[in-house]
Amino acid sequence: MTNLKTYHNLDSNDSLAHFRKEFIHQENEIYLDGNSLGKLPRETEKKLNEVLIYQWGNRLIRSWNENWLDLPKKIAGKYSKLLNVKKNEVIIGESTSVRLYQIVYSLLLTDIYPKQLGTDILNFPTDNYILEGINKKFSLQNVNLIKYSQEIFADLNLLKDQIKRKPGIYCLSLVTYKSSFLYPMKDLNMWAEKFKSIIVWDLSHAIGAIDIDLKSSAAKICIGCSYKYMNGGPGAPAFMFIKNELQKKLFNPIQGWFGHKKPFNFDLNYIPDDGINRFSVGTPPVLSLFAMETGIDITLQAGIKSIRKKSLLQTEFFIKHLKNRLVPLGYNLESPQEKSKRGAHITISHKFSWQICQALIKGNNNGFKIIPDFRPPNFLRFGISPLYNRFEDLYIVIRRLEDIVASKEYLNFSTEKIKVT
Ligand SMILES: Cc1ncc(COP(=O)(O)O)c(C=O)c1O
Repeated sequence: MTNLKTYHNLDSNDSLAHFRKEFIHQENEIYLDGNSLGKLPRETEKKLNEVLIYQWGNRLIRSWNENWLDLPKKIAGKYSKLLNVKKNEVIIGESTSVRLYQIVYSLLLTDIYPKQLGTDILNFPTDNYILEGINKKFSLQNVNLIKYSQEIFADLNLLKDQIKRKPGIYCLSLVTYKSSFLYPMKDLNMWAEKFKSIIVWDLSHAIGAIDIDLKSSAAKICIGCSYKYMNGGPGAPAFMFIKNELQKKLFNPIQGWFGHKKPFNFDLNYIPDDGINRFSVGTPPVLSLFAMETGIDITLQAGIKSIRKKSLLQTEFFIKHLKNRLVPLGYNLESPQEKSKRGAHITISHKFSWQICQALIKGNNNGFKIIPDFRPPNFLRFGISPLYNRFEDLYIVIRRLEDIVASKEYLNFSTEKIKVT
């Protein structure tokens, strides 16, 4: 059996290790939920204090011209670098759910793609709810909800066949929230194109963890949140990418004044802005925008290729020891083993997952509290963030998972669920 202590070498050879000190940590706690809500960067705390006290407290309305009005564009510029697209192809604001609504609605107002909506069962539920809602409004054929025989992999042949048979507007999560399955983006975009379809990619579980090059992957529209691996803070504004060629053909179904060509003329007629900014709606959430800026700065500094490289080493480390030490105790891997097919979180299951999850969070007397999350029916997800998680953290988690089952400690915990799991 491999010695788990190899973590020591891996940590000392880690070129990203110094980024850990950019974040706030709690003593004796291992946070492995970066795929749900990323950690607070130290700089964000400082920046928000200055914005609150000086820009809001002192400069008040003058701050719009001094610092606030151009903030969404400034941050969009940084996201465009990360995604390798042009500055004027990204917009920041709203939530992922709202962006999906806007963009699908907007596509349906054109004749560019057949009016058939589709997704698959691996997608995050909000995406499906949004599609269903729009579908009703436009009285279309049923949403093509593609079902696979299991929850880990997409059956790519089935997916392609469905796009071919029912071409239209599809929405997929590049990395799936439950199992961390990673789709071959370029291949599917080319396929969709061939059959006059478009895939709107939800990058929420991928951005900040996967090296996504939207230019070379032939993507046309993407949306996603910035509060997971991007460490933008709870409810941080979403980002949306629309390829230049498409922008002028699309109109915002929510015609708010910030999407107007000249909002401060207070014109009674709505004239949409020329570019992607026509998808703005109302006043930007200034505090949230400032809160999300350090996250993207750190990611750019670290370099997404290095982040992905470390992420793959970490997930590999976790899977290897899971197989050796935990599978004999009834744990199963619920994420793809093949590295080109997985994102940055690892999902495992056990008959007693919920109780094990509570034991991890509570911690034992002299050990660490470990924070993963739980998704029904029995999935435990470990969101491993290369910017602040160490290999040592993973070593401790493996040992603790082993211990909780071997000692039957999980029996001390209730089977009853709480609201946010
Ligand atoms: C893939 C995906 N899409 C969308 C969302 C949620 O979007 P919103 O920011 O609108 O709540 C999540 C949340 O975890 C997600 O994982």
